[in-house]
Amino acid sequence: MKSMDDMRCRKCCQGTSPGCKPPAVSPNNKRIVRNGYVRYHCISKGVAAMSQMQEVHSGTQRTTWELLDVTQAPDSISSPDKFDLVIPKFTDSENADQARVALSNVLAVLSEHGKLVILRSQDGVGTLEYTRRILKDLGFSQDLSRSLGDGTVVAELSGEDSKDIQLDNKITCFRFTDGEGPVPLLDSLKDKGWVIESHSKAEGLTPKSNVLVIDELQMDVTDPEQAAAPGLLRTVRSEELGIRLMTLDVQQYTGHQTAQAIDQCLRLLSKPETAARKDSEFAERGGVIYTPRLLADQGLNEAKFEPVRGREPQEEDLRTKKTPVCLGVERVDTIESLQYAELSSSPPPVQEGYIEVEIFTAGVNFKDLAITLGIVANADTSALGCEAADIVTQVGRGVDKFIPGHRVAVMFPGSFANRIQVPWQVAHAIPDALGFNEAATLPVAYLTALHGLFDLGNLRRGQRVLIHSATGGVGNAAAQLYFRTAGTDEKRQFLQNRYSIPADHIFSSRTTDFEHKIMQLTNGLGVDVILNSLTGDLLEASWNIVANGGTMVEIGKKDIMERNRLSMESFSRCASFRALDLSPDLANLHGQGPALGQTLSRSSHSWKLGTSGQSFPMQNFAFEAVADAFVLMRTAKHMGNLVLSRNPDVPAHIPIRPAPKAVRFRPDATYLLVGGLKGICGSLAIDFAKNGAEQLAAVSHSGYDDEQSQGVLRQFRHLGCHIDLLLGDVTKLEHMWKIFNETSVPIGGTVQGAMVLRDRPFAKTTVEEYYEATACKIQGTWNLHNVALENKLQLDFFTVLSSISSVIGNPAQGNYASGCSFQDAFASYRHGLGLPACAVNLCII
Ligand SMILES: NC(=O)c1ccc[n+]([C@@H]2O[C@H](COP(=O)([O-])OP(=O)(O)OC[C@H]3O[C@@H](n4cnc5c(N)ncnc54)[C@H](OP(=O)(O)O)[C@@H]3O)[C@@H](O)[C@H]2O)c1
Repeated sequence: MKSMDDMRCRKCCQGTSPGCKPPAVSPNNKRIVRNGYVRYHCISKGVAAMSQMQEVHSGTQRTTWELLDVTQAPDSISSPDKFDLVIPKFTDSENADQARVALSNVLAVLSEHGKLVILRSQDGVGTLEYTRRILKDLGFSQDLSRSLGDGTVVAELSGEDSKDIQLDNKITCFRFTDGEGPVPLLDSLKDKGWVIESHSKAEGLTPKSNVLVIDELQMDVTDPEQAAAPGLLRTVRSEELGIRLMTLDVQQYTGHQTAQAIDQCLRLLSKPETAARKDSEFAERGGVIYTPRLLADQGLNEAKFEPVRGREPQEEDLRTKKTPVCLGVERVDTIESLQYAELSSSPPPVQEGYIEVEIFTAGVNFKDLAITLGIVANADTSALGCEAADIVTQVGRGVDKFIPGHRVAVMFPGSFANRIQVPWQVAHAIPDALGFNEAATLPVAYLTALHGLFDLGNLRRGQRVLIHSATGGVGNAAAQLYFRTAGTDEKRQFLQNRYSIPADHIFSSRTTDFEHKIMQLTNGLGVDVILNSLTGDLLEASWNIVANGGTMVEIGKKDIMERNRLSMESFSRCASFRALDLSPDLANLHGQGPALGQTLSRSSHSWKLGTSGQSFPMQNFAFEAVADAFVLMRTAKHMGNLVLSRNPDVPAHIPIRPAPKAVRFRPDATYLLVGGLKGICGSLAIDFAKNGAEQLAAVSHSGYDDEQSQGVLRQFRHLGCHIDLLLGDVTKLEHMWKIFNETSVPIGGTVQGAMVLRDRPFAKTTVEEYYEATACKIQGTWNLHNVALENKLQLDFFTVLSSISSVIGNPAQGNYASGCSFQDAFASYRHGLGLPACAVNLCII
């Protein structure tokens, strides 16, 4: 939670300038960019320089740009607000007058107590003395400007004349350690004009004193014990006891910069507190003074919303991607929201009875469009596509029909993908003469035609058949059809040519004229089997011409989904109305259901028909152009099949949304929750179990008979997770040794959630209460760390449940805040050792 920001340049040069600290780097080597500013305004006088800057800072947030020559009077910077930090960079080409004008323009937008960091070369008009003179002329406080030695001048705009400040130069130095104390340090302070009285005990402390606490090495923690102090002091500060309390963390007591830093802090402590000087915590490193700031962690915040918004898509090659990727629709109703997404962050093992296939071609069906547009309710919108042609890459146990390398056509949801696992029953070998493109569009078309005409329609030799929209995939597949409808003259002509059908047997599917014409042509007998995909009045017209005892097989969805009505009249002729939806049957097939599986294998024989000079017209789209295929299908202008295809030898770059990050628990590890099952640790135990943890162990002080713990254990019965219920005191090292050896399998991660509250204002807190509250946090955390280390355990995580109290110093929680600030520092300490650790500063739950 605590971060020390470099008070110098943060965004100007990304760390390339001398003296500028580069942005922090996370353990996995990704840059952590934390923007702690409200606005970042870039000014340049040249267009070229400006566009260069914009390029460098293209990803910088809350940035505004201005083309302006600040060396020209009276140019003013366009900003409604003043700036807390201005970094002018001069080149040697500016003369003294221009520098003066520029500084004057800059000063006009610098806030009270704002900082000015002037970057320029060491020579020429940029020398400290020269800059000081200009600053003084412009009303800048001369004493507060200094050079960093590389030509950079740092100055602070101050309304006060520092010479007028009367400092009390008497200080009392308390040492709580034995020995002489830091004599050279005190001598240096004396040299700076401080009169020092030394005490080794607190008896010299008078109420309402201003106190500067000096400690060592909290910024890069090597001794976390020292970090118990900041939490306590933050509470003391927020209890407003009338003490002005400041802390300074120095690099080392004997460091040559230490006296300088102490001197600066003492001066600050002696001055009245103003809004601009309300900081109370400082750290000195190499002569630079840092202050802590709480900044939003952009990466963490984004991660928090990932489960809702998903991760940012990354351009990747579908061909080389080893994890499964599938097309889904993220916002039903719009083709624009089609999105490929990674389904899991690692390749899943092939299940028993399944095969894994790599997909090269996938057929596009109206159902995919219907799901995308929300016409089909309750459909799985994350796995579009239902048929494909591919090569078997892996087979699971129990599959002997296929081996890797077999060419197969499959019919299964989620086929707009790079690879997919399917039950072996839904895969069929592709005849040698058939290409991937043809094979990918056959399963649905043939299955619908055969299942519709023969299984549901009971079609027999010599009967009359009406196929609506016959230039579609299903219509084409119904090869022995009799009457057909088609939407346009072009499509009707196509049917005539392709199947040598007399023109008077092809009707328009856009008007109800076919009803009258077919009745005429059949001498009023009607049609024995109708494969219908027309809607509304056209559906009604079809239903009217079903012959006595005939069947209308509805393969469309719209009227069914809209719950429209059907006239009963045709039932008086013993006609049947049957609906065909492959989805439920597919589910049945998945469960080894017999009927459709047989039809599918029957249809695979018919595929040969599709190769004997009768192959269907087809339009090809790349996987990345799937939206174009959908748009074409929506206009109903296509003929035959639409397919997505990719060349196995050519990269197919597609934006893919990475799989959500998931917690992965090892099956061979126990995860230890210290703090029983009553509170947060109980909730975490359930959460861990729900997310796949198989072995947990809880450590409680007082047992598990209480109602909360029993409630947690009741839920555990259904989660398939084993939990060891252990008793022990985390503050006792021997208990922890016993516990680490008691778990059924070795410990692979720990959560330290032990807490004892002894809330009381600082002035009334006893030493005993302080230790009672802090022991489980300080000694307990040490014990967990030491025992894990000595057992040489490879922990996946070492999480301590700390509190926001350590950061803000809740009144009356000095002891608790102290224990928690120790825990915060302890996480940094472990990082320093190269070990995993995380302190979570929880607020009230
Ligand atoms: N709840 C909140 O609002 C909140 C806010 C910020 C931070 N947190 C942090 O979250 C963690 C869990 O809080 P919680 O609300 O769940 O607390 P809780 O319900 O009081 O649970 C804390 C547990 O710690 C156990 N414990 C105390 N001393 C122990 C010792 N020496 N050895 C072993 N176990 C010991 C207690 O066990 P027995 O009952 O058996 O003694 C108790 O069940 C704590 O670390 C706390 O600092 C909580």
